[in-house]
Amino acid sequence: MKIELLVDAVPRHSVDPVQRALLDAAIEALDRAYAPYSGFRVAAAVRLANGSVVVGTNQENASYPVGICAERVALSTANSLAPGEVVEAMAITYRPPSGAARVPLAPCGMCRQALVEQHARQQSPLELILAAEEGDVWRVADARDLLPLAFTPADLNG
Ligand code: THU
Repeated sequence: MKIELLVDAVPRHSVDPVQRALLDAAIEALDRAYAPYSGFRVAAAVRLANGSVVVGTNQENASYPVGICAERVALSTANSLAPGEVVEAMAITYRPPSGAARVPLAPCGMCRQALVEQHARQQSPLELILAAEEGDVWRVADARDLLPLAFTPADLNG
């Protein structure tokens, strides 16, 4: 079996304006991350089918495993504010302790699972726009491509 990872690398200046706006919303949210333990700030912005944009940032905790990633904060907030609304796209950005980075960040494994669940909920693809504060943008047309052989709701039926 061959598993393909479908990622397009796009120079920043040629990013589509709609994607660029979502990325800018995520970058703007970086200052609102709560990351006193890792110093690693992450922000995610989702665009819903109704046109609204919802952001999330990582929220850490002195009890480290209690912390939650930006992507799941954004998805949970969007689903709580607008249940049933399709999440069309998510932009993810970050700022490491060393300052602005150039290489895009892909979501952690737990967030990939949450993105797969979102696809199952809405039955339509969720596009990812991955970028640091500078440098190239990586585009993934369907977040499920980042989690091959995923465990999905259908698996619960055996
Ligand atoms: N983090 C995210 O928010 N999203 C990711 O995709 C990777 C990791 C957060 C979790 C923790 O607060 C910090 O980054 C360092 O792992």
